[in-house]
Amino acid sequence: MTDESPHPAAGDDLIAEIGRLEGEGRDRLAAAATLDELRAAETAVVGKRSPLTGLRRRLGALDPEGRRTVGKALNAALEALEAVAEERRAELAAEARRRQLEAERLDLTEVTPGRPAGHLHLVTQAIEELEDVFVGMGFTVAEGPEIETEWHNFGALNFPPDHPARDEYDTLYVGWGERGSTLLRTHTSPVQVRVMTGSPPPYYCVMPGRVFRSDTADATHMPVFHQIEGLVVDRDITFADLAGTIDAFTKAYFGGDFTSRLRASYFPFTEPSAEFDIQRPDGTWLELGGCGMVHPNVLANCGLDPDEWQGFAFGFGIDRLAIARHGVDDLRDLFTNDIRFLTQF
Ligand code: DAH
Repeated sequence: MTDESPHPAAGDDLIAEIGRLEGEGRDRLAAAATLDELRAAETAVVGKRSPLTGLRRRLGALDPEGRRTVGKALNAALEALEAVAEERRAELAAEARRRQLEAERLDLTEVTPGRPAGHLHLVTQAIEELEDVFVGMGFTVAEGPEIETEWHNFGALNFPPDHPARDEYDTLYVGWGERGSTLLRTHTSPVQVRVMTGSPPPYYCVMPGRVFRSDTADATHMPVFHQIEGLVVDRDITFADLAGTIDAFTKAYFGGDFTSRLRASYFPFTEPSAEFDIQRPDGTWLELGGCGMVHPNVLANCGLDPDEWQGFAFGFGIDRLAIARHGVDDLRDLFTNDIRFLTQF
């Protein structure tokens, strides 16, 4: 130590100051009770304007030896405090997560005495209600496979090969058999073919089920959804029977103050074809589905003589109907299986 050194003890003062600020900093970081508080404490303790960082400015007044020693101590203190902050952040994040999980805790095993532990999904309820209404009108219920042949889904239903109508169905094909021969059914109409080829007429039948299209999920579309199909084949069935059946269904399912209308349309498997809409008591219309007189080619494809048998068919989506009735406006809510959403219905 020489006389030239301006403040021989200045380095020691700074070391003591660093120790004091580090101690205070540790206390302050440990006291932060939330992530926001921790962020504020961190800025105050190791930020650019913190007293500790401010000590850097006083290094210039020290001799080289003192500058090195004090500089090292300062950096070590800052690093140590940053590590403390990091540790505290992990603790607080874990705590916040634990608290969130606790708040969102659902006891899925809870059974309230005297009450069933769960209930049917909204779509299942809608299917059962629709079946009830149609059974009340004299229909039976039939089902068909979800993996179908191209023939049942399209060919037998009078979609000519390579016809653009097929493109509207965004078909998902299954890698089975000859290429394009096997698919996930795009509608419930192939169940009509199953019914007509499975037993002799007459048929008064509804066919609910799951259908598939390669669609991106949004508020009004799902790649997997549900339809219900209707088929009536007997002698002397006319378009008036179709219109009457649609209207009787509308009143039975929605209520006596609802009405229905048919608008001309096109489907390969019906001729003539129509869309049917229902009118709510407030006068607004809801587009429900398609219908028409079963095309003679379809009857013939299923081995029935079109001169002897006539009929009508209809089909509509169930999911949109189910949510419309409950004031839900996003189809995806039905299938994300958030128990808090589902238990409302
Ligand atoms: N299968 C049609 C679809 O998915 C709906 C449909 C239209 C069904 C007319 C029918 C019908 O039975 O007659 O878009």
